[in-house]
Amino acid sequence: MSNKINYYRDYINNYLNLYFKGKGSYNRIIYDSASYSINIGGKRIRPILFLLTYGLYKDNYEDVIEMASAIEMIHTYSLVHDDLPCMDNDDLRRGMPTNHKKFGESIAVLAGDMLLNEAMSMLMKFSIKNGDKALLASKEIAEAAGPEGMIGGQIVDIINENKQISKDELIYMHNKKTGELIRVSIVAAAILANAPKEDIKILNDFGLKLGLAFQIKDDILDIVGDVSKLGKNTKSDENNHKSNFISLFGLEYCENECIKLTKECVELLKGLSVNAIELEDLTLELLNREF
Ligand code: IPE
Ligand code: IPE
Ligand code: MG
Ligand code: MG
Ligand code: MG
Repeated sequence: MSNKINYYRDYINNYLNLYFKGKGSYNRIIYDSASYSINIGGKRIRPILFLLTYGLYKDNYEDVIEMASAIEMIHTYSLVHDDLPCMDNDDLRRGMPTNHKKFGESIAVLAGDMLLNEAMSMLMKFSIKNGDKALLASKEIAEAAGPEGMIGGQIVDIINENKQISKDELIYMHNKKTGELIRVSIVAAAILANAPKEDIKILNDFGLKLGLAFQIKDDILDIVGDVSKLGKNTKSDENNHKSNFISLFGLEYCENECIKLTKECVELLKGLSVNAIELEDLTLELLNREF
């Protein structure tokens, strides 16, 4: 990991750690529960992608940490809900018991809701302070999390348990449930930084491919991952009779597909008007990740 990536991760962790401290009264448990899921770990890929992309054009990363953290809150809410018994029914997340295992289902549902609300309110406050570009970036983030984005993908995932889906529908599912939040982490940062239109287009395509590669790799790790490194139980997809890239195409195809998409990502970055070596490093690291 490059120094910058580690530095950003620490900066994000520190911000998120302080965020819910000391809040609440009779409702304190909602802060404990949300804070638990957000602070027990996580790679912070989305906010790091956001800060790296913003950093291609501007150097005041401290001023945009709210937007980066709002995306991580949306992502964490999606995980809390994804793990619920009515969804993937998983017990382990980020190396610790899942939110509902620790706090019970009702609190876990509300903690997920709360993380989403808090993220939206952070984005609105940030936009009031920072104007039109911030507002546009916030709108993109909200849409990427919604029915045409992450939720749309989760829907296709859930309604197709016990079914074999087509390649088209599988790509839709992966692009939406995972790709959209990854893509928007990059594109929102580029919009906010006032990047040239041509660069935003390239970064959008880069984000889409990176997101797809990321979820295919997640499917691979669900089969071959080591629980102690992965921090979540393996064979979750198999146990839930999900269609994923492995069940449709097998391991070897998936590994090659990840390599191919990663190469395409790196190629795209070369077309930018700026040097994006750290984004390239992170893209390569994600290909080889073990968790
Ligand atoms: C897991 O995301 C769920 C997917 C969208 C694939 P991450 O692999 O980014 O999980 P954390 O945030 O590091 O725990
Ligand atoms: C979930 O995909 C993507 C989300 C939007 C949370 P998975 O269900 O495969 O994610 P993991 O493997 O539980 O992290
Ligand atoms: Mg799932
Ligand atoms: Mg899951
Ligand atoms: Mg998975």
